[in-house]
Amino acid sequence: MSIKPPRKFFEPLAIGAPAPYRELPVRLERMIHFFPPHVEKMRAKAGDMAKNVDVLLGNLEDAIPADAKEAARAGFVEVARAWDPACGTGLWTRVNCLNSPWFLDDVTTLVAEAGNKLDVIMLPKVEGPWDIHYLDQLLAQLEAKHGVSKPIMIHAILETALGVENVAAIAQASPRMHGMSLGPADLAASRGMKTTRVGGGHPFYGVLEDAKNDAPRTLFQQDLWHYTVAKMVDACQSAGIKAFYGPFGDFSDSPACEAQFRNAFLLGCAGAWSLHPNQIDIAKKVFSPDVGEVLFAKKILDAMPDGTGAVMIDGKMQDDATWKQAKVIVDLARVVAA
Ligand code: GLV
Ligand code: MG
Repeated sequence: MSIKPPRKFFEPLAIGAPAPYRELPVRLERMIHFFPPHVEKMRAKAGDMAKNVDVLLGNLEDAIPADAKEAARAGFVEVARAWDPACGTGLWTRVNCLNSPWFLDDVTTLVAEAGNKLDVIMLPKVEGPWDIHYLDQLLAQLEAKHGVSKPIMIHAILETALGVENVAAIAQASPRMHGMSLGPADLAASRGMKTTRVGGGHPFYGVLEDAKNDAPRTLFQQDLWHYTVAKMVDACQSAGIKAFYGPFGDFSDSPACEAQFRNAFLLGCAGAWSLHPNQIDIAKKVFSPDVGEVLFAKKILDAMPDGTGAVMIDGKMQDDATWKQAKVIVDLARVVAA
């Protein structure tokens, strides 16, 4: 399938421009923090949670029991009605999947009752661009009917083998596409992977170091998600949208969560999901650029004011390409500082 990003991303590349078809990240979205809207205690905390996260998401899909689906939907509407869009935090929801008994009521109710407060709908188990086209049209009809003043964006979860096959077409499916998250749990099941973990590594997935006489040999663990995250990042950046790592299920293992998030950050992701309060600070730390990196990047930009040529800084060669790399880091630091 040929990859053809929408025309607006093919503006001519001016000297010193950061990168082709890249725009500045306008909103900081280091963590998408999930809460269960059917739980009254959690609804009561929504205002306080909003002060501490970049995105607050009311989850209607997996982890919400079947007999609480309607309560979760109604609970989310209650939170949205009290929501102040000027607070600067994104308000998102994850609806049930397209072939579930709840999807249609989720979308029709939320757009009717909370359409002007809702920034993004996260759509699970997306398999191809057709899923996005359907939701896009449905949203257009409902927005027109209910007088919603700004388009509600779509965020796809990449969590089926077929979805991974079609990832580039999904990323380009609509101007409503906000971004995409890896869903490692459903994806593992869909692929027939032999793990019951939600994200993270596996002690048996690795390479064994070379044999040295009779010395014991170490198995070096590898990142199970490297291929998919890299593929997703290429698809998203080519379409001018953002890529995210999804959930990390072992709340007791913060170092492993941090390592998984950091791999995603280094590969180009903008953020990850936080499913537990202790993952908020992990995401904040990981998806904000390191101070030392920012200072070095700033040196590169200062040494090459028009972004061209070649200079040596601290013994390392810099040129137009490293200037662009530096700009990615400095731009992000500016958004974090704003
Ligand atoms: C998230 O939805 C996942 O399946 O990992
Ligand atoms: Mg899932």
